[in-house]
Amino acid sequence: MLKTHGCGTLRAAHAGESVTLAGWVHRRRDHGQLIFIDLRDRDGLVQVVIRPDDNPDAYEIANTVRGEFVLRIEGNVIERSEATRNPNIPTGDIEVVATSVEILNAAKTPPFAIAEDEDVNELVRMQYRYIDLRRPSMISALELRHRLNQFIRDFMTEQEFLEVETPILVAATPEGARDYVVPSRLTPGAFYALPQAPQQFKQLLMVAGVERYFQIARCFRDEDLRADRQPEFVQLDLEWSFCEEEDILGLLEELFAGLAAALRPDLTVPRPFPRLTWHEAMERYGSDKPDLRYGLELSDCSDIAASSGFGVFSSTIANGGRVRGIVMPGGASLSRREVDAFTNLAKTMGAPGLVSLQFSADPASATEDDVRSPVLRHLGIEDARKIGERCGASAGDLVLLAAGESGMVSTVLDGIRRELARQLELVDDSVLNFGFVTDFPLVEWDEDGQRWNALHHPFTAPQSEDAHLLDSEPGQVRARAYDTICNGFELGSGSIRIHERELQMQVFELLGVEAEEAQQRFGHMLNAFEYGAPPHGGFAFGIDRVAMLLAGTENIREVIAFPKTMSASDPMTGAPMSITDEQLDELHLSVTQAVEPVVQ
Ligand code: AMO
Repeated sequence: MLKTHGCGTLRAAHAGESVTLAGWVHRRRDHGQLIFIDLRDRDGLVQVVIRPDDNPDAYEIANTVRGEFVLRIEGNVIERSEATRNPNIPTGDIEVVATSVEILNAAKTPPFAIAEDEDVNELVRMQYRYIDLRRPSMISALELRHRLNQFIRDFMTEQEFLEVETPILVAATPEGARDYVVPSRLTPGAFYALPQAPQQFKQLLMVAGVERYFQIARCFRDEDLRADRQPEFVQLDLEWSFCEEEDILGLLEELFAGLAAALRPDLTVPRPFPRLTWHEAMERYGSDKPDLRYGLELSDCSDIAASSGFGVFSSTIANGGRVRGIVMPGGASLSRREVDAFTNLAKTMGAPGLVSLQFSADPASATEDDVRSPVLRHLGIEDARKIGERCGASAGDLVLLAAGESGMVSTVLDGIRRELARQLELVDDSVLNFGFVTDFPLVEWDEDGQRWNALHHPFTAPQSEDAHLLDSEPGQVRARAYDTICNGFELGSGSIRIHERELQMQVFELLGVEAEEAQQRFGHMLNAFEYGAPPHGGFAFGIDRVAMLLAGTENIREVIAFPKTMSASDPMTGAPMSITDEQLDELHLSVTQAVEPVVQ
């Protein structure tokens, strides 16, 4: 080894020892007859002192080094005097007096400083990721992920789950997103897909008798990207035979609570994890991934709206829509402009507008003078009172109502609820509020495609007491599906699966997959179900998302070593890029819209 110690590991106890260090020049300060170098490696940084009197050669070399040079330094650890100790860094009680300085490699001036507080353009950071990853916060993110994976492996192994790797070149999977495809050279015109998830393989492993499977699995989805989505990401994927919902939820609670305790012991994790049915979550919060750290629950005012003199309300209900509301405590004092800001936010989420009611008195006894609302004239004081009471408003509160199609109303009020919590400072960052959402609908109606889509995926089992509705009222059938949520994010999803050919065929048919197509695309699953498939269920959660939560960031790219941009490209390597005509020929492909070749 070129070094005896990590820079950041030295403490007062090392005083008197001679050490050899190797790392990068974090900072160099020249005080004339004295040069200070903060030498940094993965463990942190330490101050090195170089004086011409101690060693003229070392001093001469130190005079020539610049930021990010790679050095090897021999020296002696000494305790700093009381006055020069630095309590802000772990090595602040000591310094290393250099006896030799060797330049292992020079460095150009980096495109940005490694110092933690620099606000650097993210594209530049991604282009020079190998420099960006030197930043202490990025090293911590990598360490966090390592410990996360390690914890998962230990935990799952203890529970007797077997880690099995599944293929990356697969047939297209119906997980709901677009596939990334890979052309086959040996079968002209045919394509592999990259797995959106190892769903079918893990179920086949259950048929194979593995009983308990897990994998830290790479998944690929060509979908619109958001702050918490990447085109390739990693799941903890698990599948379990002879288990029921309770077994899986129990295992997950232990796993998540254990993870949080191991990696973020400073955060509180309320237990037992609260459980909500999907219906309850949508009614109370307008979301299937509500942030449970605060209340601000929604109220349904549809019955009041139905008979209202306010035409927008009554016609919404007559057209099958809903009117629901949320209260902002203390919001009666907001200015017109501040209230309009909520309306503008609602418009970005698809609402035509919001109706606001500001109560300066208790709604139960409010008079027209006590209610400020642009629609009070149409609504009338009677209905305004009823709405205020229904929503649980008090004197001094603001009620915001959204009217329209049920799904849109939920989306809008979920967004308003999150914004209210932010403004009211109700979001407690010291808590990880995990929860389970259960009893999802099996299918939802796709208005554009005029067909039923699986809400989770087509292998999810319907609840047996609802199975008789599969033909007559599929929208009413609840699935044996569950999600884990935390602080307003969906961490993962799973379900008890179908393990019988006949039921699987019935669900495919409901989803518009005809028998012939089902046999062609999923014949391996249907056939396997005829060879003794055990009852089974499973789950998968996004490791990047969990890392994001544990790291306290809302940007998934901060916890991925080499992430992609929002347009699914990698500014460092230039991927995706064109390939040569020879490669295209070999793959029997012709390109109709070529991209410019990338010049590195
Ligand atoms: P699902 O599709 O719900 O379920 O995915 C499970 C979890 O994976 C994470 N995830 C993502 N993370 C980052 N970027 C993405 N683009 C992305 N897409 C999904 C989320 C999500 O909750 N096979 C089923 C699971 C099962 O039934 O066992 C599945 O993949 O955290």
